[in-house]
Amino acid sequence: MSGHGTPIPMTSHRAGPLTGVAEVPGDKSISHRSLILGAMAVGETKISGLLEGEDVLDTGKAMQALGAEVINHGGGNWSVHGVGVGGFAEPENVIDCGNSGTGVRLIMGAVATSPISVTFTGDASLNGRPMARVTDPLALFGTQAVGRKGGRLPMTLVGAADPVPVRYATPVPSAQVKSAVLLAGLNAPGQTVVIEKEATRDHSERMLAGFGADISVEETDEGRVITLKGRPELKPQVIAVPRDPSSAAFPVCAALITPGSDVLVPNIGLNPTRAGLFYTLQDMGADLTFENKRTEGGEPVADLRAKYSPNMKGIEVPPARAASMIDEYPVLSVVASFATGTTMMAGVKELRVKESDRIDAMARGLRANGVTVAEGDDWWSVEGLGPDGVPGGGTCESFLDHRIAMSFMVMGMGANNPVSLDDGSPIATSFPIFEPLMGGLGAKLTRN
Ligand code: S3P
Repeated sequence: MSGHGTPIPMTSHRAGPLTGVAEVPGDKSISHRSLILGAMAVGETKISGLLEGEDVLDTGKAMQALGAEVINHGGGNWSVHGVGVGGFAEPENVIDCGNSGTGVRLIMGAVATSPISVTFTGDASLNGRPMARVTDPLALFGTQAVGRKGGRLPMTLVGAADPVPVRYATPVPSAQVKSAVLLAGLNAPGQTVVIEKEATRDHSERMLAGFGADISVEETDEGRVITLKGRPELKPQVIAVPRDPSSAAFPVCAALITPGSDVLVPNIGLNPTRAGLFYTLQDMGADLTFENKRTEGGEPVADLRAKYSPNMKGIEVPPARAASMIDEYPVLSVVASFATGTTMMAGVKELRVKESDRIDAMARGLRANGVTVAEGDDWWSVEGLGPDGVPGGGTCESFLDHRIAMSFMVMGMGANNPVSLDDGSPIATSFPIFEPLMGGLGAKLTRN
């Protein structure tokens, strides 16, 4: 697989106690949506705390290519001068979304009901991922898509000049699919309805309402029914992006498996559609507490305190929780290696179509470090070796996947021998300050 430039081989060595405060970057999902909805509003949206990772920067460039003005004021402060719903211009060149499935799928939705043609591409990981899950519902609006075999990028979308509204039940639990349909529905007349059986992250619904769209959510026997009235004038917003619970997962899990640790991770968004990992860790017996619970910008927020937890037990992770922790299974499997007993993770087929096949990628790396893993199509299990029992000493592949790379670096902090990685460069997609932040807590990460 071709990477993001020169590979960065890294090694994580057993660390002393991890202590201090871990100020993780802004939420990736909310950052993408701030730029996209800002570009679809009329006037200036101001964003603070934007995640300045490669994925989000690529979305910013895409919004600019579509005619919005995106300005970096420094220090995580950005502004977007939007062109209004239906106001996107045809870009002069191909839109490169890099590694980001969220970026490409949401932007596909945003342009699908404008009379423009847009060609999308990405890196080797993104160009291998399924796009039909998005282009199928977009076709119902009248959007045409031509890509490579299997619905892969590069792909050209011809937006519907005369879109019709859509009623769509998502066949997979995916916030990206839901969001793509809702964004397309913005420029369709009438009401677009999305029905999801399992609740997935609801940042799009919350933010659309914040921007002044007429959107309602009803819990029914069919599932969550989301109804959006088309052709609103979106009003520019002032957005403070909360910190990313998916990034917080790394210092939290590192502290749980590293002897003597005590780490505070402040200001983490605990939206129930995102916080499943933290409840799972508590179920395993982790010493993880929520301090200073409060509500900010309509989202629940707390400071997380994680301490070394040598008494964790393997559990069956409730499949109903999967959507709320879908990006956290890789690092959970690392924690499970340091618990006693088996951790079973079922109902997680979606892990096979992320930035990498995350079950396969983690199983390979865990086995290379002496951990026993069993797997099936939509489940996997990890045999815990106890707090002092993980041998380490192996070299793992990151498969162009930031969360795989960071998970194995966390593993090295508690394992008996160093854990190495072929390429840490993907970490920059979501957590560009991972190395200095973890180093500041006491982790020993080296570039080889
Ligand atoms: C995301 C949705 C999830 C998640 C991804 C971010 C989003 O993907 O894995 O990292 O911001 O909407 P799916 O929609 O494929 O579940």
